[in-house]
Amino acid sequence: MARGKAKTRSSERSSAEEKSRGGRATPTQIIVGSERDDSGLSESVLTRVSDRLGIPRSQVSQMVETIGQVAQEAGDTDRIIEKHKGDKAALIQILLEIQRENRWLPRDVLMSVCKKLGVPISRAYRIATFYKAFSLTPQGRHQVSVCTGTACHVRGAPRLLDRVASALNINPGETSPDWRFTLETVNCVGCCALGPVIVVDGDYHGNPTPKEVERIIDSCD
Ligand code: FES
Repeated sequence: MARGKAKTRSSERSSAEEKSRGGRATPTQIIVGSERDDSGLSESVLTRVSDRLGIPRSQVSQMVETIGQVAQEAGDTDRIIEKHKGDKAALIQILLEIQRENRWLPRDVLMSVCKKLGVPISRAYRIATFYKAFSLTPQGRHQVSVCTGTACHVRGAPRLLDRVASALNINPGETSPDWRFTLETVNCVGCCALGPVIVVDGDYHGNPTPKEVERIIDSCD
C-alpha cells in the first residue's frame, strides 16, 4: 500500500518535472526511460531512438551501454567508499577494489573518489601509474598474457604470440571490441621450464599446441 503511494508520488514528480521542461525529454531520458525487456531495450525502441535523434543505431546502443556502465561504476564506487567509511588512508585499497570490479580506473571515477575522500587527484594518479595492478584503460573480461622473457623467447614465444594474436584478432596491448579479451606480453612469469608460457586469467599453460590455444580461448565466455 505504502509502496503504491510512493510509486504514484514518484510518477507524479516525473510528470511535473517533464512539464517544467516544456514536456521535452532529453536524449538520456528517451533511452533509459523507455520500455525494457530482460535483455535491455528492444530493437524497435533502439531504432525509434535512433530515428528521433538522427544518429546511427549502433551509436544509440553504444550510448545505452555506456550509460549503464557509468551508472554501475558510480554505484560500485559509492558502495566501496562507504565500506571504508570514507577513510582517505584507505585510498589504495579503495582503488584496488574499484579496479577489481570495473577492470580499470576511469578518469571520472578517480575524480569522484578523490572528491569524496578529500585527497588530490594527483595522489590517485601517482598510485594508479606506479602499481601494475591498476589500469587506466579499459580491460577485457579475460586477461591473456604471453610470456616473452628470454627463456620463453628461445622456446618459441614469438610464434605462440602470433598464434594467440591471430586467434583473438587483436595485437598485444589491445582489447577486443566486444571487451572479451585483453592481450599483453609479460617478462618471465617464473616457470621458464614450461615455456613458452601463456597465462589466461591467472591460469598457466606451458607450450600449448595450436589446438590447445583454441580450446583455452573457446573456454572463456
Ligand atoms: S621467461 Fe617465460 S616463464 Fe620465464
